[in-house]
Amino acid sequence: MKTLGLLLVALLSISGISGVDRNNFKTCDQSGFCKRLRALKPEKSQYSLNVDTVIVHGNVLSAEVVTVDTESEKKTVLWHYALKLSALADGTFRVELDEADPLYPRYRTQLALDGEPKPDGLKLVSNEQGKLTLINSQGHKVIITSEPLKFEFLDLAGDVAVVLNENSQLLVEPLRVRREKEDETAWSENFKSHHDSKPRGNEAVSLDISFPDADHVYGIPEHTDKFSLRTTSSGEPYRLYNLDVFEYELDSRMAIYGAVPVLYSHGAKRSAAVFWHNSAETWVDVVNYADGTVVSSLVNLVTGGHKRRVDARFMSESGIIDAFVMLGPSPSDVFRQYATLTGPAPIPPKFSLAYHQSRWNYVDEADVRGVDDNFDAHDIPADVVWLDIEYTDRKKYFTWDAEKFPHPAEMVANLTAKGRKLVVIIDPHIKREAGYFLHEDATDNGYYVKDKDGKDYEGWCWPGSSSYLDFFNPVVSKYYAERYRFENFPGTSKDVHIWNDMNEPSVFNGPEITMPKDCRHYKPPQDGQDGLASFWEHRHVHNEYGLWNIRATHDGMRLRSDHKYRPFILTRSTFAGTQRYAAVWTGDNAAEWGFLAVSVPMCLSLAASGVSFCGSDVGGFFKYPEAELMTRWYQAGAFQAFFRAHSHIETKRREPWLYDPATAALLRDANRRRYALIDYWYTLFYEHSIDKLPVMRPLFQHYPKEEETFTIDDQYLLGDKLLVRPVVEPGVSSVKVYLPGAASHTLWYDVDTYQAHAAAGWLNQPVTISKIPVYQRGGSIVPRKERVRRSSALMADDPYTLIVALDHNKTAHGSLYIDDGETYEYRNNKYIYAKIAFEPNVMTYTFVNDQASYPTRSWVERIVIAGIKTPPKTAKLNQGDKQVPLQMTLHKGNDVLVIRKPGAIMALSWSIAFSY
Ligand code: NOJ
Repeated sequence: MKTLGLLLVALLSISGISGVDRNNFKTCDQSGFCKRLRALKPEKSQYSLNVDTVIVHGNVLSAEVVTVDTESEKKTVLWHYALKLSALADGTFRVELDEADPLYPRYRTQLALDGEPKPDGLKLVSNEQGKLTLINSQGHKVIITSEPLKFEFLDLAGDVAVVLNENSQLLVEPLRVRREKEDETAWSENFKSHHDSKPRGNEAVSLDISFPDADHVYGIPEHTDKFSLRTTSSGEPYRLYNLDVFEYELDSRMAIYGAVPVLYSHGAKRSAAVFWHNSAETWVDVVNYADGTVVSSLVNLVTGGHKRRVDARFMSESGIIDAFVMLGPSPSDVFRQYATLTGPAPIPPKFSLAYHQSRWNYVDEADVRGVDDNFDAHDIPADVVWLDIEYTDRKKYFTWDAEKFPHPAEMVANLTAKGRKLVVIIDPHIKREAGYFLHEDATDNGYYVKDKDGKDYEGWCWPGSSSYLDFFNPVVSKYYAERYRFENFPGTSKDVHIWNDMNEPSVFNGPEITMPKDCRHYKPPQDGQDGLASFWEHRHVHNEYGLWNIRATHDGMRLRSDHKYRPFILTRSTFAGTQRYAAVWTGDNAAEWGFLAVSVPMCLSLAASGVSFCGSDVGGFFKYPEAELMTRWYQAGAFQAFFRAHSHIETKRREPWLYDPATAALLRDANRRRYALIDYWYTLFYEHSIDKLPVMRPLFQHYPKEEETFTIDDQYLLGDKLLVRPVVEPGVSSVKVYLPGAASHTLWYDVDTYQAHAAAGWLNQPVTISKIPVYQRGGSIVPRKERVRRSSALMADDPYTLIVALDHNKTAHGSLYIDDGETYEYRNNKYIYAKIAFEPNVMTYTFVNDQASYPTRSWVERIVIAGIKTPPKTAKLNQGDKQVPLQMTLHKGNDVLVIRKPGAIMALSWSIAFSY
């Protein structure tokens, strides 16, 4: 009977029944701590700092903080806390508050940070009248008011940029021993038929943050809401709890697969940010005093009549207070500051930036071959074919279905012959089946996550009864990593990459379709720690479970090639730091226009939060996209970082050639546009790995004073050179595009026609079904490869076309990164990173790092100069000791000069001299 019920759950979740079942997921009121904390609105904070205990040592101030009973006359001390405030490099501070002597250690999130953050200098400037003033070596000040405790962070102009505990919502619920006859509610919770034993009782933490002068806040993905976050007072807070939400809904603050607890503020005056370093279930309230939903009396009271300010509040079920404050002051600064803490994405293997073809499922080897061949037959470039769960022997990962996939190595060889790759799925649930090596090893060695009683936890997922590896145990992660070795996973090779799905983790019969919070994870044994101190509960670590999963996969994939080749991993669960290991997609969307549209703000939010390598299931996962929607989705996907078509097992097949010939041609065109820009994408990801800036950027990142841009989330910048406004509406003959940069006389060139538009705000852009509104900024140079082939690998040595879009000074700048596309040899200086500059008299291509080189055979076959009013009379290439006069053609109508076959080789620097 039990099995039948479970089967039903599984079946329901794969059938086409529509709409999210909200009953499966908690509201704030149903989440004990959220309800408890949200109701708590003290007038005055109980927390105060004991000024006599202040010590400043190195970059750290430490002090005792106490809570006092503000109601009683005697002000009795209730609890003792340890405060640490650290100054970190790059205008960042860290505030940690833990119990001074907790009953058991409280969990500190482990994997989000990319190592220990770099310290900065910190000086105590004054300690008078209950106020401490500190300064870092850049000159940012922190003023700590001791009672009630408050932290103000000042920018370099001396203005307050961020305040902590302004609204007295700082709270660390102390761990306690359960008293006899104590009310049950603090010590267990029920949701639907699920019981959470909460053995440690209440242990929530909360902190409010104010951003004076801010117009908007952004971040805290993953939600389907707008990029600019909304006031939550009259509804649910934004929830951060990694969940497998079947048929998730649009315009929602509900939690879905990912949780990145970083919040950015922006206004014309500055940007700032707070990273809430906590992996437990978290809810975030937002109050934007300017958005009209906050009653004006409150606005006046709080902001003193100034309308600009946003307040937020983080509430987490457990952990400590650990908040990083980043002081910008520009949007690029805060994005960089956050990505410095959690690490940038390393350069991905180049193929992964090309087009991916997936489906649940390509059913057997013949099917894979057919798909692969059809791309060639229809002249559509593609780099990767994907296999979903059905390739396995009955959902036992690291095995193949022997009937349908009897010769995986040959299948892979067929693909690689054309420069293509295979990605296979490996989920973290393990089928509990006698004889399955993974299950037996895990059972025998105690590798599984334990239930509340210490037995192997059993849940229900694709394979039926399943258990889950406890990656928190280094021995388990190592064991798991070893499974990826070629000899342990026969049929795989360096050209087989990995998709880690369902890693929130998804448990079909678990509370909220995930693991019960009282499950137990490994904690390194420590002397004298037993009982509750000897393990972590799932509640402490939930949002980072997937990160531990992909880290182990990443280790394994590096191990399998002796650290020679770069792995590609796709993950669904996302947390702070995910970008160091994997790309992310937005999960199970649907073939509806709204889901196409939301892919932009969702990926923008993830990109701003460190995860640039983002995309959505092109075409939509559920349902079938008709021709127009499919076309627009390919066109949009071609300009998003992760470009993969994917679909549900029960949907009609929809590979590009299955559409009518006109539509198939449009899909081909979208893919070709992607391939033409593949080196631009690759350069952007290289630059991200160095400068840590998002690849996909909100307009305000580069136009931070232009208020109109603050809420635009249906268009974005790729790097700082291309502006993209995908068409995400049905049946339109024009779209509105905002062209920023009027103050600096920016020009934007339509990439299809080279028509220049002066930035002057909103432009009405006529669109046909083949039009993708993309503009190149005047003053930029973009490399293209126009001989599109079957896969990106086959284009490696192809020549470049350089598109030079002139600014009003007749200059332009660009860059180009080249390496072998797959190994780590770039770390041994085997790469080219060149700056390309155009000035009226000379164009130059020069290496940024003279020590680095790469023997590319690529050369320049064309230079297109757009926006040229007075063309040069002569052009001469200088390369090595060669001097070659070049031929030019002027296209008068649109002021475009084409230099044909300049023949400059990219392995060496060159210049072209112009005379007028
Ligand atoms: C859920 C994933 O989101 C989806 O993309 C995949 O096809 C199914 N799991 C089956 O593996």
